Amino acid sequence: MKIRQDIIDQVKARVDIVEVLDDFLTLKKVGQSYRALSPFTDEKTPSFYVSPAKGIFKDFSSGKGGDAIAFIMELEGLSYLETIKYLAKKYGIEIKEEEQTDEEIARQNERESLYIALSFANEYFKDLLWNHADGQSIGLAYFKERGFTDQVIREFDLGYSLNLWDGLMKAALKKGYQKEILEKAGLIITNEDRSYDRFRGRVIFPIHNITGKPIAFGARILVADKKQPKYINSPETEIYHKSKVLYGIHQARQAIRSADNCYLVEGYTDVISMHMAGVKNVVASSGTSLTDEQIKLISRYTKNITVLFDGDAAGLRASLRGVDMILESGMNVKVVVFPDGEDPDSYASKSGSTRFQEYLQSQSQDFIRFKISEFAKDGAKDPVRKAETIRNIVESISKIPDPIQRTVYIQESSKLLDIDESILIAEQNKILIRKHRERPKEKSATKVETEILPERLLHEQEEQAAFAELDPLIWQEKESVRILLTYGIKEVDENIKLSEYMLQELEEIDFKTPVYADILNSIKDNLKKGLWIDADYFLHHGSEEIKQEVISLTTEKYDISENWHEMYKIHVPRESEIIDNVIYTNIHRLKMRVIQKIIDGHMERLKQEQDEDQQESLLKIISSYKKMEMEIAHVLGNVVAR
Ligand code: CTP
Ligand code: MN
Repeated sequence: MKIRQDIIDQVKARVDIVEVLDDFLTLKKVGQSYRALSPFTDEKTPSFYVSPAKGIFKDFSSGKGGDAIAFIMELEGLSYLETIKYLAKKYGIEIKEEEQTDEEIARQNERESLYIALSFANEYFKDLLWNHADGQSIGLAYFKERGFTDQVIREFDLGYSLNLWDGLMKAALKKGYQKEILEKAGLIITNEDRSYDRFRGRVIFPIHNITGKPIAFGARILVADKKQPKYINSPETEIYHKSKVLYGIHQARQAIRSADNCYLVEGYTDVISMHMAGVKNVVASSGTSLTDEQIKLISRYTKNITVLFDGDAAGLRASLRGVDMILESGMNVKVVVFPDGEDPDSYASKSGSTRFQEYLQSQSQDFIRFKISEFAKDGAKDPVRKAETIRNIVESISKIPDPIQRTVYIQESSKLLDIDESILIAEQNKILIRKHRERPKEKSATKVETEILPERLLHEQEEQAAFAELDPLIWQEKESVRILLTYGIKEVDENIKLSEYMLQELEEIDFKTPVYADILNSIKDNLKKGLWIDADYFLHHGSEEIKQEVISLTTEKYDISENWHEMYKIHVPRESEIIDNVIYTNIHRLKMRVIQKIIDGHMERLKQEQDEDQQESLLKIISSYKKMEMEIAHVLGNVVAR
């Protein structure tokens, strides 16, 4: 649909960013601007800024920013035109559509017709359920027997289809719907000139899109019949793409946002029973494993998913694999397992609201921890299955994008499974290396991107830094000095010594840590006199502090690859073999850390700043540094993880 440009302009002119955002956020006025907790992350201190004068917002925790339209598009997942429509409605501006080409009208009309046909069918099925004798005595009676209340039956638009070949078709044709549209909507099936209803003699569960329009149906059989499927579902249509839809998302989305968590179940009835038990932040994957698009849909509302598993062991093991995909998307995943023979639906109906909610609370546990303990039960004792167990668990851990989180899980697995941490790390590295290899080589990679191993080694070191609680900047300074001392006289290129190259690159950077600055300056001063000094020099001439530092730098175990080589007979290049990559990475990381420090400093000032003009100029400075940060991150082939 096209909206006339003058209407779009009118909407834009009318929009007040504070009024619009106020429907979604708790805004607090500070000076001339407003602040709020970011709706895109689960931060604890507000870093979401709104400038009413400029009509823009900036969310520093997610990096998103823009005007009111961009905000709605991002938060609600609407398209530009849908957003304009939403705002027009909010401000009571009448939408006038633009003239369209015949083809556009035809395509638009077809989609519109499908929506209308599905709405008609939905009303038809609901009417039968509530008002037709069969609907009441069969359909409604079935729902009542399952304990569904009138309220929840209406909330989910449930219905009933008569046990006839052409009940819906006749009613629709009589109303003037074209047979072709009914077919395209998946409501009727045509076989060799004979057409008949797809859904017959079943209770109907409509599937809604985010905005609440019915786009498909699931129809459940009422009697146990081995010869017929329990559910008959709509086929894929122009408006229904199974992989992009989650059952219940329309009814759940507000609750998901406010609970900052989404429960994931398998079936329609699980969703409905949980609603009745007062748990409304729940959606169903409809019996298949989750797709990337479905995960993205959830991630618009929360970064936390809790997967609910039926209580049977066999099914459980099989389902665990599917969860790895959720980890990969960077979501936090928890699980709840129900007692043997129970599913969320049966357990919710049986225990009632309070006990059910308590169960979810008390039983919810971190997914990986759960997986570890699940496998630790039997797998770890059996030597044959032990290897498989390790692989299985490490496979999940390696899906987590955040290296620090991975390290925590590796340590925990090591304890719980009683397996040496180095074995788990080695296994993890194998998987990570394999994944990097499999990754399609896009853009003709930079130096670092072509060589993944040094990156990997440096990553390990960064993790070490995090755990030694060293400031990443100090860590990189330390690395620079270590590299200089260890490899300084090596030649990176014909005639260029590593030290010269590196010192050139470090020219513009002032080291923050006195001891590293001292070492660096000594090296520079001596080099000016034509002298190269190495670790040995400092051991004899340095201050006590410098001596200690140099000892630790040159003796600490950095080369993890030695161990890997011994244990797993895979070739991992030694640091010395890949030294130019190591330097290149180190220098860029150093620069990145310096920039991040500057950004942090400005952010602090921004939080204190009351004056809007000052805020504005701080924002400008921050965003220019952010840009530099991104550029370096790009060079490193690395996502900025903070
Ligand atoms: N499903 C399906 N086709 C089937 C069986 C199942 O599409 N033949 C999908 C449905 O979306 C269903 C989900 O898988 O909701 C989970 O299946 P199941 O647990 O068997 O169904 P429930 O909806 O839980 O129904 P009930 O509680 O009546 O068993
Ligand atoms: Mn079920």
